[in-house]
Amino acid sequence: MIHTKKISFPDMHGALGHLTPIEGNVDIPFPIRRVYYITRVPGQAVRGFHSHRRLEQVLICLHGRVKIRVKTPFAEQIIPLCDPAEGLYIGHMIWREMFDFSEDAVLMVLASEHYSEADYIRDYAAYEKEAVPYFQTLSEGGA
Ligand code: TYD
Repeated sequence: MIHTKKISFPDMHGALGHLTPIEGNVDIPFPIRRVYYITRVPGQAVRGFHSHRRLEQVLICLHGRVKIRVKTPFAEQIIPLCDPAEGLYIGHMIWREMFDFSEDAVLMVLASEHYSEADYIRDYAAYEKEAVPYFQTLSEGGA
């Protein structure tokens, strides 16, 4: 789906276990300015319900499992994450929802910008209003 992609990270493994290095601008397509993680999410909880104008993120499920719904006004996909050597890149103007967290899930997020509430679009109607012309312009090759 547009502005989303799975990324495979190096998995250095042997008798001593696994090690996954992630370098900003090398393994992911932006410099890392912020890291946060989500833990101990109740089973029925759904998080997210927003999009970002500028922010790019990579989601990595370090432990357990979780599903991510990525969505535009024109397409929707559900991506399960359960492999700490794999990330989900989410770029500009993608609506996301995170659900089906296992009890032990640890979801780490690498972000391209410092936290800014002004960059969020949290209302779906407002999101559609901005996202429809944004993706139409992109598909016409104008942006
Ligand atoms: P939010 O991004 O809405 O979480 P989710 O999409 O997982 O449901 O953030 C939840 C709260 O945490 C909100 O009050 C903003 C705050 N927050 C920060 O202060 N800094 C951060 O880096 C992030 C991601 C959230």
